[in-house]
Amino acid sequence: MSHVSSNSPAYQLCGQLCDSTLELKSKDIPLSLRIPTSKDIPTLLDLLGNKANSEFDKSISEATTEDLESIAKRWTIISDPPTYRNFLIWHEEKPVGIAGLGWIGPCNKDQPEDGSRAGAAGVMVQPSARGKGYAYEALRMVFDYGFRELGLQEIRVGSHSGNVPMRALMEQKFGLKTEISSGADEVDRFGNDYEWIIAQQDWTV
Ligand SMILES: CC(C)(COP(=O)(O)OP(=O)(O)OC[C@H]1O[C@@H](n2cnc3c(N)ncnc32)[C@H](O)[C@@H]1OP(=O)(O)O)[C@@H](O)C(=O)NCCC(=O)NCCS
Repeated sequence: MSHVSSNSPAYQLCGQLCDSTLELKSKDIPLSLRIPTSKDIPTLLDLLGNKANSEFDKSISEATTEDLESIAKRWTIISDPPTYRNFLIWHEEKPVGIAGLGWIGPCNKDQPEDGSRAGAAGVMVQPSARGKGYAYEALRMVFDYGFRELGLQEIRVGSHSGNVPMRALMEQKFGLKTEISSGADEVDRFGNDYEWIIAQQDWTV
């Protein structure tokens, strides 16, 4: 695997990196990732409120309508330095899902001064748009964006072991090794017991 900076990006970058005009366009399929704006909040709520999308994600499935509204509003705000960056996934001109990074912060909480940062990636695709490679392409762009543009050293993805599509996506499609939680930390606060960790130096598009 070669280092990220020696490859060309997985996407075509449109708009400005630091504002809501940012758009990542896939080079392979008519899919793009855009920062949601206030007019996209009903679309975000539609995606987040769909139980088929949150079955394995406690942070959303256990949230109230007010919680979801506040999550959706927060995602329209660009913080600098970013602590999260979530995108609406558009296929042609239709919103089909959400992909992005949350929990962006020090890789090592005990040594924040070393400056290295990590983030947690996630993806959801509306049931009607699944099975077409959209989650793979969206997550591939999110990983590449996180390493290349946000300078993250590490990206983590968590999932519940019962989430067969997500496991297959990470294990088979991305070919990543699964870390299985055990003991007292068997399930994290989002209900995840499986994790995949990608280090920047191992990432290639
Ligand atoms: C997991 C999820 C995002 C997959 O979305 P998708 O767009 O259907 O996935 P893709 O079409 O990109 O599939 C990519 C690969 O994932 C695997 N995969 C996806 N769905 C699968 C399924 N139902 N069964 C088995 N493997 C599956 C396959 O390896 C597939 O590659 P292939 O088509 O070449 O075989 C989708 O099922 C979803 O939104 N689930 C609810 C939200 C969620 O659980 N998100 C994960 C938590 S972060």
